Amino acid sequence: MPYARIEIAPSILAADFARLGEEVRAVEQGGADVIHVDVMDGHFVPNISIGIPVVASLRKATRLPLDVHLMIERPEGYIEDFIRAGAARVLIHQEATVHLDRALSMIREHGAEAGAAINPATPVAALAEVLDKVDTVLVMSVNPGFGGQKFIPGAIEKIRQLNQLRARYNGGFRIEVDGGVDAGNAAELAQAGVNTFVAGTSIFHTPDPAAASRQMRKLAAEALSQRV
Ligand code: DX5
Ligand code: ZN
Repeated sequence: MPYARIEIAPSILAADFARLGEEVRAVEQGGADVIHVDVMDGHFVPNISIGIPVVASLRKATRLPLDVHLMIERPEGYIEDFIRAGAARVLIHQEATVHLDRALSMIREHGAEAGAAINPATPVAALAEVLDKVDTVLVMSVNPGFGGQKFIPGAIEKIRQLNQLRARYNGGFRIEVDGGVDAGNAAELAQAGVNTFVAGTSIFHTPDPAAASRQMRKLAAEALSQRV
């Protein structure tokens, strides 16, 4: 498998935007692997967050790859702009475009890694025809739009299904989970097959985000080493 077994991806949605550079450097020191950036348009999700200029500023503030989660309708119109601004990975929602195949190819053509995300109500089967075109599958474990929500347990079964399915694909793909991820469920998620742990509240709403990042990696890695 070409992908790192465990990655910690702090979500800056829960960071203090007035001190964003500082917050990102803290989790970088805590061994975070990627920075997760949540982009919301007020249409696909009922909230508005940040966009292209913030990605461009972050690109200068950290050496870590930027994992840009587009919670926007018809993302294909913005893919090139986000990649030019510094996104190393672009994740788009299956529910947000009728041309998922084309949009995923577009991401790779512009030199970034392609990710497909599914909402809690969307089955894994909705991605069956594109699993050979993705570097990452993102399983949402909350309904997207807000940080600080409760983990929806149905995500675990979807992660298990994806973990079995990826054996059929050459090299496979990463499995990423996003929403309500914390020290209480990291071990179970690692055992189910998660590579990339997105965590906002449980990292940034703590007194020491670097320590929280380290702790999450430790829990996930230990769970894997105990796997029979
Ligand atoms: C939710 C976003 C998440 C969010 C997760 O719509 O996609 O990335 O920041 O936040 P927590 O970890 O607080 O659930
Ligand atoms: Zn996200």
